[in-house]
Amino acid sequence: MKYKKLAGLVVAAGLVASLAACSGGRGATTGSGTDNKGALVGVAMPTKVDQRWIADGNAVKADLQKDGYKVDLEYANNDIPTQVQQINTMITKGAKILIIASINGGSLTDQLDSAAKAGIKVISYDRLLTGDKNVDYYVSFDNYKVGVYQANSLLTGLGVLDANGKKTGKKGPFNVEVFAGSPDDNNATFFYNGAMDTLKPYFADGTLVVRSGQTSFKSVAIQGWDPATAKARMQDLIAKSYSNGQTVQGVLSPYDGLSDGILSALQGAGYGSGGKQLPIITGQDAEIASVKQIIAGTQYSTIYKDTRKLANQAAVMANDLLTGKKPAVNDTKSYNNKVKVVPSYLFQPVVVTKDNYKSVLIDSGYYTASQLQ
Ligand code: BGC
Repeated sequence: MKYKKLAGLVVAAGLVASLAACSGGRGATTGSGTDNKGALVGVAMPTKVDQRWIADGNAVKADLQKDGYKVDLEYANNDIPTQVQQINTMITKGAKILIIASINGGSLTDQLDSAAKAGIKVISYDRLLTGDKNVDYYVSFDNYKVGVYQANSLLTGLGVLDANGKKTGKKGPFNVEVFAGSPDDNNATFFYNGAMDTLKPYFADGTLVVRSGQTSFKSVAIQGWDPATAKARMQDLIAKSYSNGQTVQGVLSPYDGLSDGILSALQGAGYGSGGKQLPIITGQDAEIASVKQIIAGTQYSTIYKDTRKLANQAAVMANDLLTGKKPAVNDTKSYNNKVKVVPSYLFQPVVVTKDNYKSVLIDSGYYTASQLQ
C-alpha cells in the first residue's frame, strides 16, 4: 500500500515535471510579464560598411536599454557563417528575443528553428527572413514604394515628370541604365519591382532607352550590395554600350553605396567634366557621403528612411512580447516569406533631393547641418 502510494506520487511528480517542460516550450519565455525584466535581447546586424546599419544597431540597443533590457548587439561583416555563429551564441546565452537584419534572408532557418524550440520570439528587422515559419514579426519600410520613389525621382531628374509628378511632355529619348541590390536580400526585388513597374511605360513608348539591353533583375543585381561590383559593372557598361558617342543620362541605383561606385566609374570615364554631364543618379539611405554629393549636384536623389522610427518600433515590439502584449502591426498581407505571411509594421520612405534635404534631414534632427558640410 505504502509502495503504491509512493509510486502514485512519483507518477504525479513526473506529470507535473512534464507539464512544466511543456510550458517551458515555445512561447513560455515571452508573455510571462515581470519574469522577463532585464532579459537579454540579441540584435544581429549585417555589416558596418553601410552607415545605416550602425545607426540602426545603436538606436535599437539604446531603446531596449531604456526599457531595462540587456542587449547583445553584433555585426557580421557581411559574412553569413559569422552571422550564423553570432545568433547561435545569442541563443546559448539565453536571449529571450532575437532582432535580426540578415545578410541572406534564407540562410538562418536552423537558427530560427532552434530559437522557436527555446521559446525565443524572432523579429525580422528591415530585411525579411525567408523560408521558415518561425518568424514572428517584421518591421520595415514600404519597400515597393521605395522603388516607385526611386523611379519617379529618376523621371523628375530627367525632366520627364515635374515636381508634382505630372508629365511634362518631354520625351527624350534618354539613355538610362538600371542597377538592383543583392539577390539574397528580399528587399532588393521589392525595390526593383517598384521601380520597374513605374518605368515600364516609359521604356515601352521609347522615352527611356537601356542601351546595354540589361534590364532583367538577374542581369542588373549586385551581389552583397557591393559598391566595387557596381563600379566595375558601370565601367563595363560605359565601355561596351557607350563608346559610340552616346552618353548615359540616367542611372537607377537602389542604394547610396552603389551610387557612389557608379559615380566613380562615370567620373573616371570623363563624366562631370569637359561639358560631359553626369547622369541623374538615384540612391537610398541618405548616407552622409551621398547627401554631400546631392548638395554638390553629383548625385540627384536618395531615399530617406528614418531608422530611428524603425529601431524604436523593433524595441517596442520586443518589449510588448516580453510583457505579454500583442505587438501592433499595420500590414498583414505584403510580406510572404515563402512559408507564411509575416505580420508587419511598415514605415513610409521619403525622397530627398537638393531641394528638400534641409527640411527632411536637418529640421528632423536626423543630421546636424555641420555633419553635411
Ligand atoms: C536596406 C537598404 C540598404 C540595403 C543595403 C536593404 O536591405 O533596406 O536600406 O540600402 O539593404 O544595405
